[in-house]
Amino acid sequence: MIGVTGATGNLGRLVITSLKEKGATEKIVAIARSPEKGADLGVEVRRGDYDEPASLVQALQGVETLLLISGSEVGKRTPQHRNVINAAVEAGVSHLVYTSLLGAEHSTLSLADEHRETEQLIKDSGMTYTLLRNGWYTENYLALVDGALAGGALLGAAGDGQIASATRADFAEAASVVLLEDTHKGKVYELAGDESYTLTEFAAELSKQVGKEIPYKDMSEAEYISVLVSVGLPEGLAQVIAGGDVGASKGELFDDSKQLSSLIGRPTTSLSEAMRAALAESA
Ligand SMILES: NC(=O)c1ccc[n+]([C@@H]2O[C@H](COP(=O)([O-])OP(=O)(O)OC[C@H]3O[C@@H](n4cnc5c(N)ncnc54)[C@H](OP(=O)(O)O)[C@@H]3O)[C@@H](O)[C@H]2O)c1
Repeated sequence: MIGVTGATGNLGRLVITSLKEKGATEKIVAIARSPEKGADLGVEVRRGDYDEPASLVQALQGVETLLLISGSEVGKRTPQHRNVINAAVEAGVSHLVYTSLLGAEHSTLSLADEHRETEQLIKDSGMTYTLLRNGWYTENYLALVDGALAGGALLGAAGDGQIASATRADFAEAASVVLLEDTHKGKVYELAGDESYTLTEFAAELSKQVGKEIPYKDMSEAEYISVLVSVGLPEGLAQVIAGGDVGASKGELFDDSKQLSSLIGRPTTSLSEAMRAALAESA
């Protein structure tokens, strides 16, 4: 049995779709804090909340391989992930796959500490493991497109940093490959898109696709945070987004190892393709 936590989230849903496409439907246990949200997944759904150890031990009964999708509550994740790892050991899970952060070992992003701590807990747990150090989702930047079109400029704080993002679907497919094949035990993968771009290049691609000049306007981290807060984002989220850009400016969202395309056996989805699909969807 293959367990997938965060199964009702964006990435989790795509992992389950990919596992089903590979013929593993009967082996999947989707784990969600609100199982009713997973009614449409078409696989067994069990309740497991990162904050409730007993629910996790129950949910993991019979699971041999577990994908722990990192939680979304920044600041609470180390104890939450510890709960999942301890429950996995108690329930007899033998192999744990974790969605970490690109370059987690040395990353200066504020998000990196929780990933480093989780990686250490996994290494200390005695289970075999695979670490999927995921780079930035292309969707993180595509989410800025509407605002850029409305405001006439793409705003950010990434300078000339190269961003080797990949779509969630590509990261999800890599996870499903690792969950289904036996050859990835003990491996640490740095996962990123085959191509990279600066935000100036992102804005140029957007301008080309919408037929209107949308320049990139680079600003300081503090300025960018205040713009994000002024349009209604919570301060914490604004700090994470702007912090990601500052990381990008230092090269922390860049990787050219092509381990993602190698895992999925095809080139990663290009920025232009992902942007075209996103624009078509929002039209
Ligand atoms: N690489 C990147 O660019 C990037 C960007 C954003 C996030 N991330 C990380 O990657 C993860 C997956 O991304 P995503 O886009 O799928 O995020 P997402 O859509 O927010 O999904 C997060 C999942 O975690 C579940 N979750 C949160 N707290 C939980 C708890 N206490 N107990 C059980 N489940 C809990 C959520 O459950 P519900 O469905 O009930 O909400 C959801 O299914 C995120 O959680 C975050 O750690 C990476």
